[in-house]
Amino acid sequence: MSAAPRCVWLDGRVVPAQEAKVSVFDRGFLFGDGVYEGLRAFGGRVVGEQLHIDRLKAGLAAIGVKGFDAEALPAMTRELLAAEGLEDAFIYWQITRGAPPPGLAARTRKASELRTFAPTVVGFATPQPSLEHCCAPAVKTAAVVEDPRWRRCDIKAISLLGAVLAGLEAAAQGAEDAILVRDSLVAEAQHANVVLAVDGAVVTPALDSVPMLAGVTRRLLLDACPEIVEQPVTVEQLRRADEIMLVGTTTMVTAVTALDGSPVPGAAGGAPGPVCRRLYDTLVEAIERDIARPVQEAAS
Ligand SMILES: Cc1ncc(COP(=O)(O)O)c(C=O)c1O
Repeated sequence: MSAAPRCVWLDGRVVPAQEAKVSVFDRGFLFGDGVYEGLRAFGGRVVGEQLHIDRLKAGLAAIGVKGFDAEALPAMTRELLAAEGLEDAFIYWQITRGAPPPGLAARTRKASELRTFAPTVVGFATPQPSLEHCCAPAVKTAAVVEDPRWRRCDIKAISLLGAVLAGLEAAAQGAEDAILVRDSLVAEAQHANVVLAVDGAVVTPALDSVPMLAGVTRRLLLDACPEIVEQPVTVEQLRRADEIMLVGTTTMVTAVTALDGSPVPGAAGGAPGPVCRRLYDTLVEAIERDIARPVQEAAS
């Protein structure tokens, strides 16, 4: 299911993967200066497409990258999927500030010069299971890790070193994922948001409580399940939760079965608990509704 892409979208057209070349002076390569989106398509339809577009626009505006219209994403994605011959896929889009125009220093840091760059746009798609094959939540173990990342986790930045460090620390503790905590408040996992069943309620960390990404999957679930409460979530709540769930585009709703080596009570015997299974089914239904929406004409 994770075959290497045969095609790459690069700066306006689809090319064979082996021909996709980017300058070593590209700001994404040298500085991690760019943003990305990870989309999921079922039957050729992208889930939460407008939410991804809006988040990408916000990220590009936050880092001051101009020259790419995120509204073009649906048409680009359709073209990429058709070239790759995929309908059920994960699609990665990355927009960096680009390489320096002729005459500029390779590693210029002058803000006035950064405004003259043209962005580099790269995308590729890999196969994923169809929605019919999304039948049950996955399970994984997690460790609590002090969040080593910067404070602008609302930006989906390509520089993921903080998440990599957290993952290495979790792995050193024998866990498969890290749940990141800052000032004793739960933020998110390495690549997913967190939802807990605790004290008889279903809660997810509020976006303004601690730096984190506004996940598309989190939004779909909040819209579909009014019972989920957004609030600051403490590490103590995490540790006494009946169930811990990770939610994200490829994660869907995944059950955490053990935290820091101790079993999570609601995921007895390593199986997803009742809240997790309910949220998973709710997400699948929300995805079914979302991908049944009328096709929008390409913006450009
Ligand atoms: C740090 C982080 N949080 C949350 C998410 C979940 O976001 P989404 O549901 O949009 O995939 C991701 C997805 O990559 C992520 O990297």
